[in-house]
Amino acid sequence: MSTTTPSVSESSGTVGAPAAPPSTLAADTATTGVAGTDPLDLEAVDALELWVGNALQAAHFYRTAWGFDLVAYAGAETGVRDKASYVLQQGKLRLVVTSSLREGTEISRHVARHGDGVRDISLRVTDAEAAFREAVRRGAVPVRAPYEEKDDHGVIRRATIAAYGETVHTFVERRDYAGVFAPGYEPRSGPQDPLPSVGLLDFDHSVANVELNRMNFWVEFYEKVLGFQLIQGFTDDDISTEYSALMSKVVSDGVGRIKFPINEPAPGKKRSQVDEYLDFYNGPGLQHMAINTDDIVASVQALEARGIEFMRVPDTYYEDLRGRFADLDLDIAVLQRHGILADRDDEGYLLQIFSRMNQDRPTVFFELIERHGSRGFGNGNFKALFVALEREQERRGNL
Ligand code: FE2
Repeated sequence: MSTTTPSVSESSGTVGAPAAPPSTLAADTATTGVAGTDPLDLEAVDALELWVGNALQAAHFYRTAWGFDLVAYAGAETGVRDKASYVLQQGKLRLVVTSSLREGTEISRHVARHGDGVRDISLRVTDAEAAFREAVRRGAVPVRAPYEEKDDHGVIRRATIAAYGETVHTFVERRDYAGVFAPGYEPRSGPQDPLPSVGLLDFDHSVANVELNRMNFWVEFYEKVLGFQLIQGFTDDDISTEYSALMSKVVSDGVGRIKFPINEPAPGKKRSQVDEYLDFYNGPGLQHMAINTDDIVASVQALEARGIEFMRVPDTYYEDLRGRFADLDLDIAVLQRHGILADRDDEGYLLQIFSRMNQDRPTVFFELIERHGSRGFGNGNFKALFVALEREQERRGNL
């Protein structure tokens, strides 16, 4: 890959197409890198925007199969001439799926290169312009300078910085907006959902896959630019099988509302799941989004009834689990029936499950997570999961 290093100047004069990420951050770090200070006043993840080949069908998939509600639409009928976007909501989760109506656009080029994938992990802030200026001052590559959009419901202010690969973070300021999503969108709902609700509540974490030897760069990016702190790290000893391995570190805002684990491949006898992702996504990007539920068994049952399939670990995993959870009143047989995984640490335990891929390319998938005290990410499951992932990878001929 290219090692071009655009220098990031203090002034944000160069706003244009997303630049390649710098290999070093801006030199002005004297007042940066203070973890936990929330220098950008981040509130939460606002939405995940996926750029896809066919937003109409993707919206149907996330609505019908994943149980989201369609709440808003923008496209030719609302005066948007070159793209169509559908806003899907479930609990506090918001997905936007967007496709291009024309060839030669940034969206169609992105889709040709990456397949369906997450373009924007937007972050709600109190002041988009201030967040953008401060992020750029701390070394972020600007993608779009602050701008406003207005309609009868008020004004939304936004600005965008580059993250890993072609992924971006848009700062979104909603305090003066009361409409359904944003100017240019109209309220839109789908037909009455005849199936039991899935019960997904909120974003838990979003995982990046980056290239070999780039994990620490992106950890440093989130520490310096967004004021995040490193909360956990796993080495290839923790997450490896006979064949392949990965390294992972987790960065989070001060209060743990926003958590971004970052993976890189580690050398192994065969290609790891991260290598496979980087190959098919053509570079770094979002690998999975984890979603909170307070009843994972009910959520999984509802999703299975809607046709969603999940990764399976070998049954031997549950024999081991019975030992590890002997003192807790957990119905392991129910977990086993649905392929739900469990992990525990000093603070409590968590239940989790990983879906199969959301599209043909082996790139983006979802995780469901039910937390009982544990703030971990299921590292005790990584090995079992890795074996399951490799089995899938082998079926695709990519191991
Ligand atoms: Fe995860």
